[in-house]
Amino acid sequence: SPRINIAIDGPAGAGKSTVARKVASALRYIYIDTGAMYRAVTLKVLESGLSTEDNEGVGRLADGLDIVLLPGAESQRVLVNGEDVTSRIRTLDINRNVSYVARLADVRSRMAELQRRMALEKGVVMDGRDIGTHVLPDAELKVFLTATPRERAKRRFLELDPNEGITLEQLEKEITERDRLDQERNIAPLLQAHDALLLDSTGKTVDEVAEEIVQWGLAAV
Ligand code: C5P
Repeated sequence: SPRINIAIDGPAGAGKSTVARKVASALRYIYIDTGAMYRAVTLKVLESGLSTEDNEGVGRLADGLDIVLLPGAESQRVLVNGEDVTSRIRTLDINRNVSYVARLADVRSRMAELQRRMALEKGVVMDGRDIGTHVLPDAELKVFLTATPRERAKRRFLELDPNEGITLEQLEKEITERDRLDQERNIAPLLQAHDALLLDSTGKTVDEVAEEIVQWGLAAV
């Protein structure tokens, strides 16, 4: 059967990546985690000492990065200029800086260009913040995945290294702040596309949510 593109957007911790990976594997599609790309750029920005306000400098840096997403059974590996940064992009330090890097115009246009190229042949499940609204406005299926802030914080809490030493309450605050930054930025803010289906994952299992999206996907072909 013909392949389609599926866009899954939503706030932090809504379960997008876990769900998107399941949907992709059920349909034998390719899963693309666009948040990982912004995280990878952020890691390099922090290493380089550039300011997260420096649009041109950070844009030039991003242009020179070869970002590769390798599909894996459990998690996707992320390579930047050949270096595996998979675990280094999942720290609180990256969480706290990524939304500042992600609001830079030159970074966003570079990432969107790479992401569109990855989706050219269809058969991708892409998750992020602006996939349905900007990156793939023609995606055949768009989902806006949400959950309550407490539930989202709990999920991210379980993923974090306990050595990071943050409480659930503090994490919930930081997640809410990141959502605010993502929603209020000028370019491609976090927003439900007018033609996206809203799915609240609060109280639902990953399998239930993934199955619902797979059924929508099959209906959209
Ligand atoms: O999905 P994840 O939490 O890994 O995304 C990290 C950050 O990357 C988001 O908070 C957002 O600032 C940025 N992002 C974005 N556009 C996307 C995906 C992620 O701006 N399509």
